[in-house]
Amino acid sequence: MTASTQVKLKPGDTIGILGGGQLGRMLAMAAARLGLRCQVFSPDPDSPAFDVVMNATCAEYADVEALELFAGDVDVITYEFENVPAAAAMILAARRPVLPDRQILETTQDRLAEKDFVKRLGIGTADYADVTSAAGLRAAIARIGLPAVIKTRRFGYDGKGQAIIRDGDDPDRVWADLSTRSAILEAFIPFEREVSMIAARSADGHVECFDVTENEHRDHILKISRAPADISDALAAQARDIAESIASALNYVGVLAVEMFVVAGAGGPTLLVNEIAPRVHNSGHWTLDGASISQFEQHIRAIAGWPLGKPVRHGEVTMTNLIGDEINSYEQWLTVPGATVHLYGKGPPRPGRKMGHVTQVGTLPPKTT
Ligand SMILES: Nc1ncnc2c1ncn2[C@@H]1O[C@H](COP(=O)(O)OP(=O)(O)O)[C@@H](O)[C@H]1O
Ligand SMILES: [Mg+2]
Repeated sequence: MTASTQVKLKPGDTIGILGGGQLGRMLAMAAARLGLRCQVFSPDPDSPAFDVVMNATCAEYADVEALELFAGDVDVITYEFENVPAAAAMILAARRPVLPDRQILETTQDRLAEKDFVKRLGIGTADYADVTSAAGLRAAIARIGLPAVIKTRRFGYDGKGQAIIRDGDDPDRVWADLSTRSAILEAFIPFEREVSMIAARSADGHVECFDVTENEHRDHILKISRAPADISDALAAQARDIAESIASALNYVGVLAVEMFVVAGAGGPTLLVNEIAPRVHNSGHWTLDGASISQFEQHIRAIAGWPLGKPVRHGEVTMTNLIGDEINSYEQWLTVPGATVHLYGKGPPRPGRKMGHVTQVGTLPPKTT
């Protein structure tokens, strides 16, 4: 069942969400505001999204019976993470519309397939090579040069499963440390800045974009997003065109994020696509408090078959992630004038774990790095 155009939810209908993290939680909260219910499917009993929905399915993605029961309980199914197992997506899609279409996962779960897809659209990426062995890595380095970034093709996030290779590094050791059989090598891009475009596409092909967001990472994890990005209108228009052509080529329904590098060029800065996330994205969290419509609401509207909103930004917006122990400062943040605090209700604050975020509208604090 793929006919996304058939989906037209009514208030009171139920959306199934695969994945129980903070993205699922914020999707469910946005759905609730529109009178829609959500049922969350997650194997983790401590899923933060379980706390905000009436009905939850706590089961493994390989549990066919649980998947079938879940599908029976909901009207449309979406996901908050791109690593939904293909077999689970297939079982669900046979019973209910899955939006965005599950085939999109095949492209976005695999960095090589994703880069090939972006390249076929004529959109720039870092130079890259498929690597399946230490010898292959040497050959790829000979072609692409150093520094370069090696990334596992699958399951990488927040910088996990990747390493920078510099002159003098031993490729055999790098390959052994990565402990994978399939990776890509990318040219290291000396970018001016990193930006992302959060775009929504409805089943009838209409696309609405948020303002381009500028992202600052710390230890490979997003720390601060600022909107709008400090780029020219012309470059922002290019970012919109890129997101729109990716969304259209995928026949996408829902919100997607496109991460891009801004690189200096002789004729002015240009954009290279780094990654596509087929879901709401951390760099779009500012839209919850900083725009008339959030990325979460846009996604819910798109998959419900409802009209997309035209998001209007309320001012200059900064979103600061509370990572690991930083969550302990939540009481201080609660007293900062103008700050809106979001806590995800997660368990222990392990290093690198995204625990919450703070939005500030109308002020742009100085850069932290
Ligand atoms: N080719 C590259 N050149 C320079 N920096 C890179 C490159 N690829 C990734 N990075 C840096 O590492 C971060 C994480 O990489 P990314 O490919 O987005 O993986 P993920 O977000 O899935 O961990 C990027 O946001 C960027 O800061
Ligand atoms: Mg990324």
